[in-house]
Amino acid sequence: MSDARGFATTAIHHAYAPAENEGALTPPLHLTSTFAFESAEAGGEMFAGERMGHVYSRISNPTCDLLERRIAALEGAEAGLALSSGMGAVTATLWTLLSPGDEVIVDRTLYGCTFAYMRHGLAKWGVTITHVDMTDLDNLRAAVSACTRVVYFETPANPNMRLVDIAEAAAIAHSVGAQVVVDNTYATPYLTQPFTLGADVVLHSATKYLGGHGDVVAGLVVGRAETVNEIRLVGMKDMTGAVMAPFNAMLILRGLKTLALRMERHSASAAEIAAWLERQDGVAKVHYPGLETFGQRAIAQRQMQLDGGMIAFELDGGLEAGRAMMNRLRLIQRAVSLGDAETLIQHPASMTHSTYTAEERAAHGISDGLVRLSVGLEEVQDILADLAQALPAPGRRPAAA
Ligand SMILES: Cc1ncc(COP(=O)(O)O)c(C=O)c1O
Repeated sequence: MSDARGFATTAIHHAYAPAENEGALTPPLHLTSTFAFESAEAGGEMFAGERMGHVYSRISNPTCDLLERRIAALEGAEAGLALSSGMGAVTATLWTLLSPGDEVIVDRTLYGCTFAYMRHGLAKWGVTITHVDMTDLDNLRAAVSACTRVVYFETPANPNMRLVDIAEAAAIAHSVGAQVVVDNTYATPYLTQPFTLGADVVLHSATKYLGGHGDVVAGLVVGRAETVNEIRLVGMKDMTGAVMAPFNAMLILRGLKTLALRMERHSASAAEIAAWLERQDGVAKVHYPGLETFGQRAIAQRQMQLDGGMIAFELDGGLEAGRAMMNRLRLIQRAVSLGDAETLIQHPASMTHSTYTAEERAAHGISDGLVRLSVGLEEVQDILADLAQALPAPGRRPAAA
């Protein structure tokens, strides 16, 4: 559980004592695949679950264990689990919680590979996938039934920034005995702690803000100890093998130390850029939870400490204007992923969300003209200057505009 200290202190110190590690300020990296048993009997007892200890690094490893304790503390949950990627976290969790014949109710907007896993992966194994627009929770209320085992959503959702009220969605799901799984990648525990609002499992692409430096692919899960243990022993150990490498755990532990500082800067810069974008000619719509024009501002104020570093926007000229603008950028990098020090821009319809068909994108609220901006840690005036020189000047605005 969360210690009584503040967020940044927990992110730097929780569950590690240099004095117990030869004085090493930085936790040791345990590069070992297996662990020696003190006796044959001790090994047998560990396999039987009668004795605690590490057996094999596809089940647990001390470096991953420290990261698992730290993310659990930051999320206010009982236990954590480190996995090889965000998709490893998604698949290991759902393979564990679902069986053939069960229904999972998911929000309309999901990260492209999560959507593909649900639509083309899980559905193959006899799980019913029901998409519901969870921006209006009456839709969820009407959809849940005794068959619903899991309610799954992202908030803010990738890529269009739609929010879901976590506490209310959890109350609805729990009324039929379903578990709530929240992808907290965009918000991070610094902005939102879904477990404390009623979610049962919270997962992350730690590739993004938690790592924070664009140098590692990783995933994390937190929840109640019993649930997380089941995901470890079923979804991770046996069904996916999607275990995090200890070296990657070390990189995420390093990233967590500066998460609070980075989220403050990402959020402050994104708020300024979103407000600026909204004032520019040729910008049709800006989706950012901190804007007065954001339709779900009240939910953001209820469950997000800050409004985050992600912005989605659309230009008057739609897709062609968006592509031309992206090609004129000099500082901002055209790249998928998010949460890095570098400001990144991408076009969901042709990149991260190309796993949807055009019809599916239309039905799921992902417009072809939408551009996704992950605001980095550079000086905000340099990001603004790059956007200013790249936005359609009246002279070069496409005819359609
Ligand atoms: C919201 C969200 N969830 C999950 C994932 C998958 O994470 P990973 O790429 O680490 O597998 C991503 C990746 O972009 C994401 O944006």
